[in-house]
Amino acid sequence: MARILIGVSGGIAAYKAVELVRLATKAGHAVRVVQTPASLAFVGKATFEGVTGAPVLVDELEPDPARGAFPGDPAPDHAPISHLELVRNCDALVVAPATANTLAKLAGGHADSLLTGAALACRAPVVVAPAMNDAMWDHPATVANVATLAGRGVTVVPPETGSLASKGEWGAGRLAEPLDILATVARAIAERSGARPAPEPAWPDLEGVSVLVTAGGTREPIDAVRYVGNRSSGRMGVALAERALARGARVTLIGANLAVEPPSGARVVAVATAAELEAAARAEFPDCDVLLMAAAVADFAPAAPAAGKLKKEGRDGLAIELAPTVDVLAALAAERRPGQTLVGFAAEHGEGALDHARAKLERKRLDAVVLNDVSRPGIGFDASDNEVTVVTADGTVDVPRGPKGVVASAILDEVQSIRAQASEVNP
Ligand SMILES: Cc1cc2nc3c(=O)[nH]c(=O)nc-3n(C[C@H](O)[C@H](O)[C@H](O)COP(=O)(O)O)c2cc1C
Repeated sequence: MARILIGVSGGIAAYKAVELVRLATKAGHAVRVVQTPASLAFVGKATFEGVTGAPVLVDELEPDPARGAFPGDPAPDHAPISHLELVRNCDALVVAPATANTLAKLAGGHADSLLTGAALACRAPVVVAPAMNDAMWDHPATVANVATLAGRGVTVVPPETGSLASKGEWGAGRLAEPLDILATVARAIAERSGARPAPEPAWPDLEGVSVLVTAGGTREPIDAVRYVGNRSSGRMGVALAERALARGARVTLIGANLAVEPPSGARVVAVATAAELEAAARAEFPDCDVLLMAAAVADFAPAAPAAGKLKKEGRDGLAIELAPTVDVLAALAAERRPGQTLVGFAAEHGEGALDHARAKLERKRLDAVVLNDVSRPGIGFDASDNEVTVVTADGTVDVPRGPKGVVASAILDEVQSIRAQASEVNP
């Protein structure tokens, strides 16, 4: 396990650094935290001290009770200079969140605080995870500072697009998921130590790739006001769209009754019913390289929806005849061209789920089926977490429970390995 120095600067996303520190500690890493003075307005030292079990430093001149040692290590018998000793002992420095101000200071080589001084003295891998308002992120000064840092070998974990921490704000600038930041840090440490060959850069590996995502749940009218629907919120599909955008893809999102905002970088086609979704998917499919069919599309729809509102009066009951809808995915699979990757999603319930997913894979001739056992509490429909099994002709990959964004990244990793295999076969 590694010694990770986490620098927290003063943005709203500082609260997410608590989760990063918690995850890193839980993963068995020895963690020390340094904070900028501005960050204290957002999260106090006591929180990080409680989670790491080690003192948190802010001021360059304040004595470090641990004398630069990481949890589990002996402290030296002299009092070393903190900003030098902490980075001498660490395997990686990660600044999360990295404010626009701190990025500028790091790019300019400033050393006017414990964090910036430590960063300047750091010979271990440095990872920064920026988070800020989208206008600040898009500003040429920030763009140039990030490019300068990346050019010097600093690993940048780009922010995500979506609702920002400050109320009512939306755009690019949301701190990356703490699990993703931690995975990047682990990769940076492994690369430096030569523990395994340097992996391909995880970003932007979908540049130039056209990704079509369907998300949400269709609603099939019973009459003018009622419908047959399902519990899908669209969160998983939106997370896939977000992650694909972050990895450089061109994304079209066919959204059926989404309960969450689609990412601003995607081209969105709004639909309501299975028939509308089918028409939109058929129109968009020929141009896509990857289809991620995450929407919950009704298998059956009322055969003869009433034009007005059905009246209650004079009825003992109401029988609605349902007729099967078109199997959109099977229809698209029949029209696929070489080079396209098709991924279906199967929300199965309980026993036999894996067999059903395998059958779906073969029957519809898909490249992968993402299986979601919706009988498990806390995951799947309308939840923020998910846990899936990606089923391919080669076998299965279990993606452990985590936020849907992290699960989406893992699914895209599988898509990339399917695409890589396909290009080996048909170069
Ligand atoms: C409520 C509030 C929220 C802020 N959120 C951010 C933010 O998310 N990202 C950012 O770059 N700056 C943000 N700032 C501005 C920074 O706090 C400010 O630039 C500060 O000087 C950063 O200092 P530091 O980089 O040394 O921590 C925010 C300011 C306020 C008052």
